[in-house]
Amino acid sequence: MTTSDIAPPKAFVWVWLPGHTVPVVAGVIQAVDSELVFAYGQSYLARADAIPLQPDTDHANGLPLVDGAQRPPDGLDAHGVIRDAAPDSWGQQVILRRRLGRGAGDTGDLPLLTYLLESGSNRIGALDVQARPDVYVARNNHGTLEELVEAGDRLTRGLAFSPELDDALTYGSSVGGARPKALLADGSREFIAKFSVSTDVFPWMQAEAIGMELARRCGVNTAPTRLTRAAGRDVLLVERFDRPGAGTRRLVLSALSLLGLHEQAARHATYTDLVDLIRLRFRSPSATLEEMFRRIVVSVVIGNTDDHARNHAAFWDGASLELTPAFDLCPQPRSTGEAFLAMAYGRSGQRQARLTSCIEAAGTYGLSTNQATEIVDHCVTVVRDAYDAACTDLGITDAARDRLWQREILHPSIFYRG
Ligand SMILES: Nc1ncnc2c1ncn2[C@@H]1O[C@H](COP(=O)(O)OP(=O)(O)OP(=O)(O)O)[C@@H](O)[C@H]1O
Ligand SMILES: [Mg+2]
Repeated sequence: MTTSDIAPPKAFVWVWLPGHTVPVVAGVIQAVDSELVFAYGQSYLARADAIPLQPDTDHANGLPLVDGAQRPPDGLDAHGVIRDAAPDSWGQQVILRRRLGRGAGDTGDLPLLTYLLESGSNRIGALDVQARPDVYVARNNHGTLEELVEAGDRLTRGLAFSPELDDALTYGSSVGGARPKALLADGSREFIAKFSVSTDVFPWMQAEAIGMELARRCGVNTAPTRLTRAAGRDVLLVERFDRPGAGTRRLVLSALSLLGLHEQAARHATYTDLVDLIRLRFRSPSATLEEMFRRIVVSVVIGNTDDHARNHAAFWDGASLELTPAFDLCPQPRSTGEAFLAMAYGRSGQRQARLTSCIEAAGTYGLSTNQATEIVDHCVTVVRDAYDAACTDLGITDAARDRLWQREILHPSIFYRG
């Protein structure tokens, strides 16, 4: 069997319009060579409340409300909003394994359309992808947290698990990112459960729990998180910001999509391009720029060098963009002295994780040197003073607390000058 035999030729995009509790069909995606081409449906274009699924930006064509086929921007295999709704490396592994069994090969073996159609329906944002335009059938198979952690662990170790657990794991497969994860609900609140696996040597979930908590204490608007345990593993529950309650959903676009970049070109994404977009297109640009600067400083202070363009996102309501709460702020294991952020924050390409360089870039974020210095001093003081108590409050082990301190978190090199 070749991949083209199993590639479905087309699929239908359904959307939860702002404030709606049921989805409507927005259009069709068709695989043409290696691209996914999108066309709005007539019924959607005829709606008075239709919104473009993705705004045009200086960097990429979005999906304006026009009739006819719309090809992805040059260099992309799908429009960003569609790519953002698809599984990433973790979800792709789940689907690949389900499709091709335990001897499954490479995630590149299946086409994007298959990943879109076979992943769970409770996607990040407000889109789903379905085989039919007339009936909506959600692919929603829940499992308990224990079962999901167990299945995730078995998958990463290449072991067998039951079809029921396969279904439950598939439910969360549409969520992006590389770490093992699943989706959970508690009443009207919805969570992403991220978990460690037995092959981890770094305390990932504890590191992310403390990273998010410190960011919060530094004044960053963060998604609420809670560290817990299941099936003998650390689990981080992250409350979803794209599910405001009452069955509604919010459209979300990654910074990567807004900048029109393919994930393989993510290294070209910069904070400074994002800044220009924020000034032009975002709600409350000055406050958003200050928040962006604070997030950069916090990443330097806690050693989060995984601040790539899929780890920043914006809500889109058809009229304006708004920065989402911060997520995935996680101290990254480091062995060398100096570290670099994933995206350049200075106009001349500065990426060094150094606080003085951040302050030098203050003007880019609409801040004076004094304002930037105050933010930096505040974040350093909060982290220094609150670290031990925050670790205790969260139940971080002594080993993880000592491992992270001044190695990932507040590493001496962040104070270097020049
Ligand atoms: N609180 C949240 N609400 C809604 N969507 C979220 C939230 N947190 C994360 N996401 C979405 O889920 C995706 C995966 O989450 P996250 O970045 O935490 O996973 P990860 O596996 O650690 O990622 P990475 O590959 O960057 O290490 C994000 O790219 C984002 O689209
Ligand atoms: Mg991420």
